[in-house]
Parts: sequence; C-alpha cells; structure tokens
Amino acid sequence: MSWRRKHLIDVDDWEREDFELLLEQTSNMDSILDRSIKKAPALRGKIVVNIFYEPSTRTRTSFEIAGKLLSADVINWTASGSSAAKGESLRDTIWTLEAMGADAVVIRHGEVGVPYYLAEKLKKASVINGGDGTHAHPTQALLDLYTAWRELGSLDGKKVAIVGDILHSRVARSDIYAFKAVGAEVYLSGPSTLMPTDINSLNAMYEPNIAEAIEGADIVYMLRIQRERQDAGLFPSLDEYHRRYGLTDKLLGKAKKGALVMHPGPINRGVEIASSVADGPQSFVLKQVRAGVAVRMALLYLMLGGVKE
Ligand code: CP
Repeated sequence: MSWRRKHLIDVDDWEREDFELLLEQTSNMDSILDRSIKKAPALRGKIVVNIFYEPSTRTRTSFEIAGKLLSADVINWTASGSSAAKGESLRDTIWTLEAMGADAVVIRHGEVGVPYYLAEKLKKASVINGGDGTHAHPTQALLDLYTAWRELGSLDGKKVAIVGDILHSRVARSDIYAFKAVGAEVYLSGPSTLMPTDINSLNAMYEPNIAEAIEGADIVYMLRIQRERQDAGLFPSLDEYHRRYGLTDKLLGKAKKGALVMHPGPINRGVEIASSVADGPQSFVLKQVRAGVAVRMALLYLMLGGVKE
C-alpha cells in the first residue's frame, strides 16, 4: 500500500492499512533517532511552516525537529509578532505563507474546523492538523498508537482505558478512532460532567467507576484536566478530582501487571496523575514524546514525497 493523502485533518477516515503503513514508516524514522548523526536529506528543498494560534511545547517543537532532521526548512509562525496582530485574517496569512513557497502547513487553532478550512483554501500546500479546538489531534493519536504498538506488538483485543476530561479532549476523540481501527477495545471513564452528550456515538464504552474501567487494562491513558475550564464548575475542586479520578499506584494495581501508563502532556501532577506514577516504571510519557518526533518525521516524509537515501 502507498500513501494517498494530501492533508491530515483527522484519522477518522483512516483504514487499518493506513495506520499500519504509518507505523512501519515511523519505525524507520525511529531508527534515525538512534544514530549519532540524526540527519537525513529526504526533504531537502521543502518548506514546512508551523502556524500555532494556541500554546504548544510538544507538537510544535517535534514538528520543527522532525522537519529539520529530514533537512526541510522549518519556519515557526506565531500570532503575536506577526501581521495577525495588525488584524490580518487567517486566510490572507496562509495565502501569504503559501506564496512564499510553503509545502506543508501545520496548524493549531482553538476553533474546530480551521484545518478543514485551510485545506480548502490552499492550492498547493499540504495541511496537517496540530489540534483544532475540542475536535481532533491526529498526530497525537498516531504517536500514542506507535508508542503502544512498539511496546505491545499487535493491539488486537487489547484494553485501553481513557480517563478524565473526555468532554474537552481532542486527544480522546482521535485516540478512540486510532485504537479501535487496529482492533483494541476502548473504555472511557471520568465524571459524568466531563463526558460529551454524544458519548454513545464515540464508539467506546463508558464506565463511570474508574477502578472498573481500568480493571485488567493493557493501557491506562490519563487525560489532562483542563484547568482553564474549572470555572465552569464541572467538578468540585482539583483535590476532590484527584481523590476520585487521579491515577495513584494503588489504583494502577487494578490494571494488568505492567500496563502502560500514558498521558499526552502537559501533566497536572497530583491532579489526574500522582507524580509517583508519572515518574514510575510503567510511565510511557517520555517515550510518547520521543515517538512524537518519529511519527511527525514519517508524516512529513510521506506527505511531501520524501526522497529515499
Ligand atoms: N500533547 C500536546 O499536544 O502537547 P502540546 O500542547 O505541548 O503540543
């Protein structure tokens, strides 16, 4: 099977074969990260522009590193310090950047649907969704999938428990699609106030009792509590949240022995996850971060038609 997509807006239309191709390509890129000189000429002459309207550490930096390791030129655009601060529209901004020769645009935006909009407006450049509102975060899902696949092999029949603020989580939505597509069973848990009203359409089982949700799980995936939403009164307090839904060593004991603990970052220590778990032997958080570089290298390579060494 060969790559057949110009844009990456979400993974909800990917087939199992698409994920398998991406995993295989990511594995190749991962081996570049093990070299003493981590540089390949595959994307020489290509231009990647990171357009981030929301803060990011992992996604923006790993796209930058990924592009640079493949010898692309990577430009970081931020709203502050650009002509967006003078009122230039998103449409005019991206047309301007495309006119300068951008081959790929990585976009993060607080509004759902912005990557779709850009994909319609741009004539030549590929669009990669780096997270749009509460809708999707496809590259996070791909790096999560790669991290789990690398450790566990086939994910057929594996139990994945995703716990926390599903309501506001673009990560959860993309992860559900990705894990289900490769045969895993996905359970959701968290307070009912942090579950979306369309939870039945998410193709995952809801178990309000976290201990039940993670019982026998192969992967326990904790989501960030979005502190910025706390004013809405969706849960009583951070302390109360930790007592009822935080992942502690004791609670982790309910999962399968050696279960992978995952989190997209940034972590709220002592809220959704205890520090002893986040830093413990079952934590895959930093492996996810490294996988983020390899996955984004693979995507840029496939989308921009990289040249083999
Ligand atoms: N997981 C994630 O998207 O992290 P950043 O917000 O730091 O990019």
